[in-house]
Amino acid sequence: MGVTIRTARLADRARILAISSQIWEGDDYVPQVIDEWLHMRDSEVVVAELNGTVISFAHTVNLASGYVWLEGIRTDTASQGHGAGKALTEYLIEKAWRDGAQRIGLSTYIDNLASIHIIEHYGFERQASFIFAEATLDSPARTCAELSPEVVAVPFGEAKSWILGSASIAMSCGFVGQGWKFWPASRPGVIAWPAFDKAIGLRGSNGSLRSLLVVCHPDHGEGEVSIDFADGSPKDLEVLVRHVLALYPGAKSIQTVVPAGKGIHTVLLETLTALEFDVWRHGVPDVFVYERPVKQPQ
Ligand SMILES: CC(C)(COP(=O)(O)OP(=O)(O)OC[C@H]1O[C@@H](n2cnc3c(N)ncnc32)[C@H](O)[C@@H]1OP(=O)(O)O)[C@@H](O)C(=O)NCCC(=O)NCCS
Repeated sequence: MGVTIRTARLADRARILAISSQIWEGDDYVPQVIDEWLHMRDSEVVVAELNGTVISFAHTVNLASGYVWLEGIRTDTASQGHGAGKALTEYLIEKAWRDGAQRIGLSTYIDNLASIHIIEHYGFERQASFIFAEATLDSPARTCAELSPEVVAVPFGEAKSWILGSASIAMSCGFVGQGWKFWPASRPGVIAWPAFDKAIGLRGSNGSLRSLLVVCHPDHGEGEVSIDFADGSPKDLEVLVRHVLALYPGAKSIQTVVPAGKGIHTVLLETLTALEFDVWRHGVPDVFVYERPVKQPQ
């Protein structure tokens, strides 16, 4: 019998964790989110079985009515190449269609070659690229932490309007990244925003906002902090990033993704490099967001 797909049950939790423990030397975020995934609304964990054993799983969640996000697809290393990843992807595309969604999005990393092969096979197109950077607890960047008296809290409504008019959101093709999840904040059709934890900025002498940085806690990884958005002059960005480093002294990782195009990126990258963040792959775009419209299955 071939691969079969079904909704995960609570009893699958241990098997899901066993599969996750094999991925990325056990440094997978799934254990931190699996309980929430198995219980949350507008969401489904699906598993693939081969000969009665769960060999693969994935998660789908509606970021907004009409916008589906796919994440966390993993196959037992001993069972890869048997079609489970493709079967799960196909099932989730069909489910999105049955649920009346308009678009499906997902993100992946540059060296997940099997994943990129599968999603491109199913018609997902790359929409945006980013450069991953982080400051872990032992990073020299953490010694740059400094609270600035010039930094002010920015109301979330004002922050959202400012983001929509920024150069950075144009470079990120309308997505706002929250960890590995990318929200379609300014995309054609369906709009969805992540929940902000803090928005801070610097104002000009007339009170207008001249730079902005937004932080949220990603839904994976306890103690991880994500800079979802940062734009402004290089001098302002340095003040804002140093301020954030000081606001979260105990965070295991303070991370962000810098919007990047072909050979260009936002000014944030220079700031992070100067502050000695760990910029993965020496600044080559390495995180990709893919999307596809939902059409009636053939
Ligand atoms: C991505 C993943 C879930 C795929 O699961 P799987 O059950 O092996 O997938 P399938 O067997 O359905 O298909 C694998 C496809 O990738 C292809 N593939 C495998 N390795 C590849 C590589 N290095 N480069 C390009 N394609 C590759 C296979 O040839 C196959 O395609 P084909 O059927 O057209 O020949 C699995 O590799 C995995 O768990 N990876 C680690 C976690 C991960 O990267 N998740 C996605 C990012 S969040």
